[in-house]
Amino acid sequence: MKTGEKDILLSGMQPTGPLHIGNYVGALRNWVRLQDQFAGRLFVFVADYHAMSENYDPKERQEQILTLVAEYLAAGLDPKKVTIYVQSHIPEVTELFWIFNTVTPVAFLERMTQFKDKSGRQKENINMGLFSYPVLQAADILLPKASLVPVGLDQVQHVELTRDIARFFNNRFGETFPEPKPLLTEIPKVMGLLDPEKKMSKSVPGSYISLMDEPEEIQKKLRRAVTDMGPVTDRSKKSAGVQNLFTLLHEFGTPEDDAIMERAYQDGSLKYSELKDLLALRIADHLATFRARRAKLLANPAALERMLATNAKKVRKMAQQTVKEVRQKVGLST
Ligand code: TRP
Repeated sequence: MKTGEKDILLSGMQPTGPLHIGNYVGALRNWVRLQDQFAGRLFVFVADYHAMSENYDPKERQEQILTLVAEYLAAGLDPKKVTIYVQSHIPEVTELFWIFNTVTPVAFLERMTQFKDKSGRQKENINMGLFSYPVLQAADILLPKASLVPVGLDQVQHVELTRDIARFFNNRFGETFPEPKPLLTEIPKVMGLLDPEKKMSKSVPGSYISLMDEPEEIQKKLRRAVTDMGPVTDRSKKSAGVQNLFTLLHEFGTPEDDAIMERAYQDGSLKYSELKDLLALRIADHLATFRARRAKLLANPAALERMLATNAKKVRKMAQQTVKEVRQKVGLST
């Protein structure tokens, strides 16, 4: 990918508890790759305002925020290359959010599939935050005037709405914001172990591998993973469950692992229990390093907090510039 030095790339995740290997290979590792390829500036943040729109325990939140920051770093994000910050440290984002609300048609938000999914899951708590979530996301992206947003397919609709909001704002108040694009790099899609037709998600117990799972737990979960529903007749096309195991092996195993297992699959001699146990070993090995780094970082929370405070200052400065410009354009100041 070719990018200019002026390009700004921004992404984030919600601090809602331990990540799973789908987040890891789908988002985190992708960001790590981008930090080395990308000529422009990279921002990765913790979406703690967003996370308030779903049920949660406030007593756990501070720890979840700091843990996610540690996980960003443990996965390999380099604080020299990426500005890591916490969304709520930049209150300017909420002002921009309000202003964007006034140019966003309700009908556009009603179409958002994530809103429909989430409101289906928490019927007793369909709050305004859940509904206007994508408008806040637009504010995240446009506050630093980011032009590229590396996200998974499930977030493309939100980035497209961000483009609409930028355009609506520019049309009404004058050219101010870029129209950002989603950056869809070749990222593997990790599916649920028990429901391999769906993306891996924390909402299905037993169907995901947490980055905090111990080796025995990883093995147990993989052993239960769905493979073929009946005899295999066409070896050129793997079932969703088997394909998912191969995807994971490709991510966590060696090139030899790939080749050996693929050959065995093709000649019909592959025992899925062997594939699963090898995969369990490889994932556990990989996560051991990640977990050691994470623990070391979390043993010194003061250092993490210092980094976040420094970055908040930097990002706020930029945010205040944008908000100043916006206030003038919308007639809130001279
Ligand atoms: N909605 C994103 C998710 O669920 C998280 C997010 C919030 C985000 N604001 C963002 C991602 C801005 C990219 C850019 O994964």
